[in-house]
Order: sequence, then structure tokens, then C-alpha cells
Amino acid sequence: MSPDLTLAAQSGQPAPAAPDLAPLAVRGLTVSYGETPAVFSVDASFAAGAMTAIVGPNGAGKSTLLKAALGVIPRLSGEVTIFGAPIDAARDRIAYVPQRASVDWDFPTTAIGVVLMGLYRKVGLIGRLTGAHRATALACLDRVGMAGFAERQIGQLSGGQQQRVFLARALAQEADLYLLDEPFAGVDAATEKAIIDVLKHLRDEGKSVACVHHDLATVRDYFDRVLFLNVRRVAEGPVETTFTAENLNAAYGGRLAATHIDELQLASA
Ligand SMILES: Nc1ncnc2c1ncn2[C@@H]1O[C@H](COP(=O)(O)OP(=O)(O)OP(=O)(O)O)[C@@H](O)[C@H]1O
Ligand SMILES: [Mg+2]
Repeated sequence: MSPDLTLAAQSGQPAPAAPDLAPLAVRGLTVSYGETPAVFSVDASFAAGAMTAIVGPNGAGKSTLLKAALGVIPRLSGEVTIFGAPIDAARDRIAYVPQRASVDWDFPTTAIGVVLMGLYRKVGLIGRLTGAHRATALACLDRVGMAGFAERQIGQLSGGQQQRVFLARALAQEADLYLLDEPFAGVDAATEKAIIDVLKHLRDEGKSVACVHHDLATVRDYFDRVLFLNVRRVAEGPVETTFTAENLNAAYGGRLAATHIDELQLASA
């Protein structure tokens, strides 16, 4: 028992809540760009060694949740911890793949240049990139089937190829928590398979993965857990018990057609 908890137990005071050591824990998170909150009072705790889908309609605050968790946009209120630590102390442990539409693809760099950016945190901005770093970056490109495009300008790759390169950059970071915003958006079936294989491999190595995901038909095959979000937290838990018609209806405000819901491999409520 920690000294704090021991003291509290001895004095008859209620023990302080134990810190949540989850890869990502948010408590009472509210984020607002203007008057209306984009994310309101959300509690969520992502499980270690699991693949979590973040599911909800357009504008539900999914990207906002990830950006606030990374500390790239300010929170109005609430707490975020990464493996029990404040974001600033744990930044090295997170790799993030942004939603594709939000990236400036005209940025003048090559595919391998993008992956090398993933190594800067380790190397330091003034550290020298060596041949070993290039070999690591190339190996990461190889894992996503993009080694042959290493010297291609990033803006001259197709959308799916760009997505693979950003995944390679995340791999180069050797993080413990991978946050991906719609990694499968607009990619072909082969690329989707390549990406999911890489992510499942990370999960099987004990890493934690969370993806914003729109394809409800693949939630059961791809993910262990699901967080339904629509500004507020609708539900969170194992796919087997949480991916229900009731939660889908609640998250999408009843806008999903009943026939569509019937086609999904749903958990029974
Ligand atoms: N930079 C911004 N300035 C003002 N409002 C924003 C900004 N970014 C997002 N919003 C608004 O916040 C809300 C949540 O946006 P967010 O991008 O988090 O949704 P999302 O769930 O990721 O949606 P999508 O599925 O379309 O990617 C939306 O209403 C959006 O219009
Ligand atoms: Mg989004």
C-alpha cells in the first residue's frame, strides 16, 4: 500500500482514489472550440494490451478526444493520464496517426523523411540521424509494404500509401500506446488488411491500440473493446457485451437503419 493510502486507512479517512494506470484514462473531460462542447464530461479508461474502437457519428468529438488526450488542444476541464502519468511525462509512450484529411500533404519531404520524424523524439532535434536510423526507418516502411517508395515525395503517393507511411512513422516511435484516427478511411482492402495485421501484431506484443473507426461491419473482427461516443460517453466495454443495437442506436441517435443494424454481428443485449 502506498504511504498515502496507509495513512488514510489508519486515520479512518476515505482512501484517495488509486491512480488509473490504464494506457489512456480520461475523467470528466470537456473540450470546447466555442460555446458548445465538442466533448462533454467524458470518462473513459482504455485497457492495456487491447484494441479499442472509438465509434460515433461525424462530429461526435472522436478526433477531439484523441487530440485532447495528446494535449495538442486544450481541455476546458477534466483529467487525462497516460499509464497513470500526466501527458507531458508520458509523451514518448504515445504514437499518433492523425485523420488523413487534417494532414498537409504538400509538405516537402519523402516517405522515409516522414518516418524519420518519428525518431526525432529519441534522437533529439540536434542529434545526428545516422545510417542506423535510416535502416530502422526503412524497416518500418517495409513492415507496411512501402520500402519501395522510401524516396518518393509524400505528396506524390496515393491516399492509401500515405496512410501506410504514417503508420510506419508511428511504428518507428516504438510507443506503448498507438492512437489512430480513422486509419482505414479510403484505403483499399489489401491496405486495410496490411494495416490491421500490423495493429494486431502490436496488440499481441502487449501494446495498446485505439482507433477511431467508422466501419461498423468490422468492429467485431478487428477490436476487443469499443467506446461509443457522441459528445458524451455512450458506453464502453468489451465488444462482446457492448457492441449492441441499443448502444448503436444511442450513439447514432437512432439514425442507423434497422436493416443495417440487423446485418451487423451484434452482441445480444
Ligand atoms: N478546430 C475546430 N474549430 C471549431 N470547431 C471544431 C474544430 N474541430 C472540430 N470542431 C467541431 O467539434 C465537433 C467535433 O469534431 P471532431 O472532429 O472531434 O468530430 P469527429 O467525431 O472526429 O467527426 P468525424 O467522424 O467527422 O471525423 C464538430 O462539431 C466540429 O465541427
Ligand atoms: Mg474525426
